[in-house]
Amino acid sequence: MSAKLIDGKQTARESNARVAAAVAGLKASHGIVPGLTVVLVGEDPASKVYVASKEREAKAAGMNSTAHRLPATATQDEVLALVRRLNADASVHGILVQLPLPRQVDAQAVIEALDPDKDVDGFHTINTGRLWGQGGGLVPCTPQGSMLLLRQAVERPAGAHAVVVGRSMIVGKPVAALLLAADCTVTVAHSKSRDLPGICRGADILIAAVGRPEMIRGGWVKPGAVVIDVGINRTAEGKLVGDVAFAEAAQVAGAITPVPGGVGPMTIACLLRNTVIAACRQHGKPVPAL
Ligand code: GUN
Repeated sequence: MSAKLIDGKQTARESNARVAAAVAGLKASHGIVPGLTVVLVGEDPASKVYVASKEREAKAAGMNSTAHRLPATATQDEVLALVRRLNADASVHGILVQLPLPRQVDAQAVIEALDPDKDVDGFHTINTGRLWGQGGGLVPCTPQGSMLLLRQAVERPAGAHAVVVGRSMIVGKPVAALLLAADCTVTVAHSKSRDLPGICRGADILIAAVGRPEMIRGGWVKPGAVVIDVGINRTAEGKLVGDVAFAEAAQVAGAITPVPGGVGPMTIACLLRNTVIAACRQHGKPVPAL
């Protein structure tokens, strides 16, 4: 392996320490305690684990942290009523509705019902518009975390050719907007793109967010490129692997994120950052350095 390893666990720990210091400062100076509320509908096992981690980490950072658990049979009106109640609750600065939602609940309608200034996932159309426009909204967590890791390897990405493989609302599209805002030349490729290996080989920065285990091979990586692997896939043997064939790609890349221990830990770290940002804005206070 010749690539530098980009350590997501360490980067997340450092970010969490800055968040905890900011929370302590807000309490001491203004009596503000940032509050994060997570909504879980149903019994999806992976979602339960994620929600428990989000609750625990928000508490560890000194925030008010609550979770609302609704049964899998909850109606859309019940979920919307809860969202409206949380929108109106001044002690709640950030609301996250865990996805996926049960089929009887229209996820997009729930997201659009959120107060955009409390939408710490950054999925509301207003925040999407801000992301592609002048900025100033809440930025989706996994893309934000990917950019923080990218900055560990490349101080100035301006002018670099960034290739994003994947076009989801949660990762592909928002990370493309962030790369563009960082003055990269951005290509968004996807499952229907022709000559995907050739497109990837042109990338100085390669962001893999397709959700297919080890699809991106070492031969697709330009020598010296920075590879950010957003994929988390479980193999038949129960092993966690990314969207990139790590052992092969690490021979060629200049820097690469591992799976696990890369982008994964950054998602909750960025959720906590967004909650502090949301709390500061709601109270008209300057956002401390995070
Ligand atoms: N489910 C998988 N990823 C996410 C995420 O980033 N936010 C929410 N709310 N649900 C998810």
